[in-house]
Amino acid sequence: MERSLLVAFVCVWALSSLSAASEDAAEQCPERILGNERRQTCPKKCQQDKDCGNKRQCLCDGQCGLSCVVPGRMCPWPLPLGKHSDIVLLSPSPSFSALLEVRCKSGYTLSNGLDTTIRRCQGDRQWSGDEPVCSAPPGGDVSAGPGLVPDVSCSLPEDDDLLSVQGSATTGSTIKYRCASGSVLIGNSENICHENQTWQYPHPICRRVVCPPPKEVADRGHLVAVQRTEYDVGDTIYYLCKKTFLLDGPNQVTCLPNGTWSAEPACRARCPVPAQRSRVIVGGVKRWPYDLTDGVVAHGENVTFFCKHPEKLCSFTATEVCVDGELKAPSCYLDPTWLQFKLYPHRLVSEIDACDRADLQ
Ligand SMILES: *[C@@H]1O[C@H](CO)[C@@H](O)[C@H](O)[C@H]1NC(C)=O
Ligand SMILES: *[C@@H]1O[C@H](CO)[C@@H](O)[C@H](O)[C@H]1NC(C)=O
Ligand SMILES: *[C@@H]1O[C@H](CO)[C@@H](O)[C@H](O)[C@H]1NC(C)=O
Repeated sequence: MERSLLVAFVCVWALSSLSAASEDAAEQCPERILGNERRQTCPKKCQQDKDCGNKRQCLCDGQCGLSCVVPGRMCPWPLPLGKHSDIVLLSPSPSFSALLEVRCKSGYTLSNGLDTTIRRCQGDRQWSGDEPVCSAPPGGDVSAGPGLVPDVSCSLPEDDDLLSVQGSATTGSTIKYRCASGSVLIGNSENICHENQTWQYPHPICRRVVCPPPKEVADRGHLVAVQRTEYDVGDTIYYLCKKTFLLDGPNQVTCLPNGTWSAEPACRARCPVPAQRSRVIVGGVKRWPYDLTDGVVAHGENVTFFCKHPEKLCSFTATEVCVDGELKAPSCYLDPTWLQFKLYPHRLVSEIDACDRADLQ
């Protein structure tokens, strides 16, 4: 009881674009009946959505019965103009369960004698039924006789979540392929269906693009992300560095459409200043190293040291950069002794006059 209710509900939903006159038929989704419709394969059989993979739903797919289909899937559209017919799309878009009407021009009929037929967009992205052919009744206009219904199309690619097709697969037509975002097309993006019903090229494939796990920051910080072996395009990961480390780069990275991360941030260590009894210039301020917070400078910071002129009693400066925990004193720098520092603080190299430009030639 429960199941049949669900079946009815799903089918009513899937066929809701049908007119009121067809509602009786929509009451129930047929069991899988093959042979009546010319189609290569039916999608996977199902009873409910959870029988299907992600993105697919258990919907009524005509003669295939309840099947796992992707509701947004498109059928070829526009179709080439019919020889003696007008083709009208009855639904807003040519997606799954959309309907189109083929109406023969006045004086022409289909092989079953009627002048109109409705085709439905199936889960395999093909319009239901045979290619309708409108022909003049015997004795009428010269045209292809009834019963001569050629099967004049090339086969569309296998059902694929990522690959979509635009255009017609009838002989002499061209189709274009598109890959869903987050995937790349491998092969030709266009194809032509030859008169002998073979494609010029094999169908392309869409390969999902993924990014590898982003670069770790070891024990210096954290990545704010769900740990996975691969990440999808558009996924974003945040970087946080521990307190004494400086983030070098943006605080977030995104998986790009070419499978790389938008940046490679790192957590950089601070540098101890290799001077004790001499002032240095940090951030434009001349100060004693022990006045710096923790006696260290941040990654990327410039530290200017004072060196003594080899002959004269004057000083010149030399600058070094803190690079990820490494800051070396310039070769000209000599840290004063404890005695010099205590007894003659005014004679320390960092405190005496700067050399004239002429002295440094
Ligand atoms: C089909 O026709 C095309 C173009 O005329 C030709 O290149 C191809 O070899 C034919 N294929 C077969 C299987 O006959
Ligand atoms: C990936 O794309 C980005 C942005 O478009 C570009 O900067 C980067 O060089 C590309 N990387 C590779 C390996 O192609
Ligand atoms: C350090 O010095 C270099 C070269 O003079 C300069 O380009 C850079 O901006 C300085 N860095 C800081 C943090 O002041």
